[in-house]
Amino acid sequence: MDATSTKRVTVLISGTGSNLRALLAHTAAGVDYEITSVISDRATAKGLGFAQERNIPTAVVSPKAHTNRTQWNQALLAEIEQTRPDWIVTAGFMRILGPDVIRKFPLRIVNVHPSLLPSFPGVHAPRQALEAGVRVTGCTVHLVDEGVDTGPILAQASVPILAQDNERDLHTRIQAVEHQLLPETLQQLATRHFAPFPWIPSPTTTSTL
Ligand code: GRF
Repeated sequence: MDATSTKRVTVLISGTGSNLRALLAHTAAGVDYEITSVISDRATAKGLGFAQERNIPTAVVSPKAHTNRTQWNQALLAEIEQTRPDWIVTAGFMRILGPDVIRKFPLRIVNVHPSLLPSFPGVHAPRQALEAGVRVTGCTVHLVDEGVDTGPILAQASVPILAQDNERDLHTRIQAVEHQLLPETLQQLATRHFAPFPWIPSPTTTSTL
C-alpha cells in the first residue's frame, strides 16, 4: 500500500447501496480515499446505478453464473484483485466472503453492521435488538475475519430504541448513523489514524455522533 497517495477503495454491495452513496458523497467533499470500483453479486442492485452515474467501473459476479460457492468465490476474488484495492468495503453485501478472499486481503476488508457488536451479529440485527428488549443499539464498523461479524472493531456509534420503533424505523435511524460513521472511519484508515498498531485500532474508537 502506497503511504502517500489517495487510497483505492472497492465497494461490494447487494442492494440499495445507501452506504455506497454516503461514501460517494464524502469523496465529493474531499477525502483521502477514492471509490474506484463497485462489485455486486446481483445485477439488479440499485447501488450499481450510483456508481455508473459517476463513471465508476462496476462488475457483477453472480453466484447463479457459477456451479458452486467455491467457484463463485474464486471469480469474486479475481474480480476484486483486478481492481487493485487498498481497502475493500462490504456495504450491505449479503454474502459471506470465502476464506480465500479474506486471506488475500488480511485486515483490509471493512464491514458495516447495524448493531453494537458483539451483540446481534448475522442477519436482521435491528429485529434481534427489538426482540431482546435493549434500549440502545447502534452500528459497528469492523475489519472482516473468517467469522460472521467477529473481526476487530474500528468504530461504533449508538442509536436509542424508541418505544414506538418497528424494525424498519429502527434500521432507518441506524443507517443514518452508518452513513456518517463509515466514511469517517474509512478516512481515518486512509490516513493511518489507527497507528501505532498496524491497522488494528487500539483502543477502539467511539464516535461522537
Ligand atoms: C446496512 O444497514 C448495513 O449495516 C447492513 O446492510 C445494510 C445495507 O444498506 N450490512 P445499504 O445497501 O447500504 O443501503
